[in-house]
Amino acid sequence: MEKTAARALSVTAAAWFVALVAGLWAFGIYIVGLYGVGAATGDWERWNAVLPAGHGYNRGDAAGNLALGVHLLLAVFVTFLGAMQLVPALRARAPAFHRWNGRVFIAVAFAIAGSGLFIAFTRGAVAGTYMAIGNTLNAVLLMACAALALRFALKRRFDVHRRWALRAFVLMLGVFFYRLGMMLWFVANRGPVGHTDAFDGPFDIFLAFAHVLLPLAILELYLRARDRGGALARFAMAGALTVATLATAAGGLFAIVGLWLPRL
Ligand code: HEM
Repeated sequence: MEKTAARALSVTAAAWFVALVAGLWAFGIYIVGLYGVGAATGDWERWNAVLPAGHGYNRGDAAGNLALGVHLLLAVFVTFLGAMQLVPALRARAPAFHRWNGRVFIAVAFAIAGSGLFIAFTRGAVAGTYMAIGNTLNAVLLMACAALALRFALKRRFDVHRRWALRAFVLMLGVFFYRLGMMLWFVANRGPVGHTDAFDGPFDIFLAFAHVLLPLAILELYLRARDRGGALARFAMAGALTVATLATAAGGLFAIVGLWLPRL
């Protein structure tokens, strides 16, 4: 019973990871296909296809454009390479890659949060006040967890390091979870229920904070079930992870069809 519960937990965690990576790579392909192609061909209008006027490529705002460019370049690293830190086989067989990718991950956490905050504070909120607060919370928590992950790796306390690194990882993906959550909700309700143009509807306010705090809460429950839970807790968590896997796969698919493909 104990063994079966532990196995159920690790299998469902792996399934969630596969659904996550598939969605992340699709997001990465969209970023390269829209913004990367725009920069490479000088077609800067592509930077204004999604972001509203004044938020994408802004003639005359070199600092803002550069910050956005750096932000998007780092986003490509996050989507394609960030999740590789969690693959056990890579950690075991290529420890040097894990260490270097990890150092880059920590640096990227600070740079992407910093550039995101710089853009948000200089160009104004792109998705309302609540999302600006949620974004700031995301950025601050991400930097704090990344710093703690680094601190415990340097102290060679790898058990504690791994926990903070996992927290930094889910916080890094907050903006990705935001897109999946929004698409899942809109498709389930056949329209933007609870959403307003100013992003101050009940669903907007919920998601502004849930995209940061909900994945973090699920991670804490997972860590507890994995490290200290009995068979029942592990089975319950495996059930929750099955739901999370389906939500991640469906949300990713809806985002590909509804958000990303139409913009390419
Ligand atoms: C946690 C810290 C982050 C903050 C505070 C942040 C903030 C922002 C802001 C304010 C914008 C809008 C730009 C504007 O108003 O001109 C933006 C755009 C964008 N960010 Fe971030 N961001 C963060 C992390 C990330 C991460 C980790 C990724 C990728 C995995 C990412 C991917 C993007 C993309 C692709 C856009 C362009 C909009 C789109 O095409 O969907 N961001 N970000």
